[in-house]
Amino acid sequence: MDLKDHIREIPDFPKPGILFYDISTLLAHADAWQVTMGRMAKAARVYQPDVIAGVESRGFLVAAPLALKLGCGFIMVRKPGKLPGGTVTHTYQNEYREDTVEIQDNAVEPGQRVIVVDDLLATGGTMSASISLLRKVGADVCAAACIIELGFLKGRDAIDVPVHALMTYDS
Ligand code: PRP
Ligand code: MG
Repeated sequence: MDLKDHIREIPDFPKPGILFYDISTLLAHADAWQVTMGRMAKAARVYQPDVIAGVESRGFLVAAPLALKLGCGFIMVRKPGKLPGGTVTHTYQNEYREDTVEIQDNAVEPGQRVIVVDDLLATGGTMSASISLLRKVGADVCAAACIIELGFLKGRDAIDVPVHALMTYDS
């Protein structure tokens, strides 16, 4: 199955000149979604992770079912101010502004093997910040995974663990 057939391409969103790759149609299609998660699990399983980390918000949609498939725990990398209890933050510069990601300070046991999952890799800012954050709380980040990679933005160059993408767009 070519999963790209299930991605809706929307021109000029969220602003003129940007072509938006929408995963809503993929998630809504029962067979395509099953195939997506099957391929994700196949790529992720080889790393023998203990935990799957999802990046708020669209990353949660992919990470939580992946954790269930692999028999792993699921943890949240969130936008700031959402998590109760002790937290750790990491601030980074994205394309337009400073941004922050946050995690609970007890989210992982020291040395646990973690795969970071998001729906899409663009500049790589979100993914590399999430990896730095996970390391701050003691994770052994073994891989990163996403459904879509915007290859022309070279986001994977900013990431120092293996990156798995189910599909890549070159423009
Ligand atoms: C999008 C996407 C990734 C990130 C990729 O999230 O879901 O998380 O941008 O961009 P980057 O590689 O340049 O950092 P967005 O911030 O739009 O929020 P959402 O997931 O809450 O919709
Ligand atoms: Mg996101």
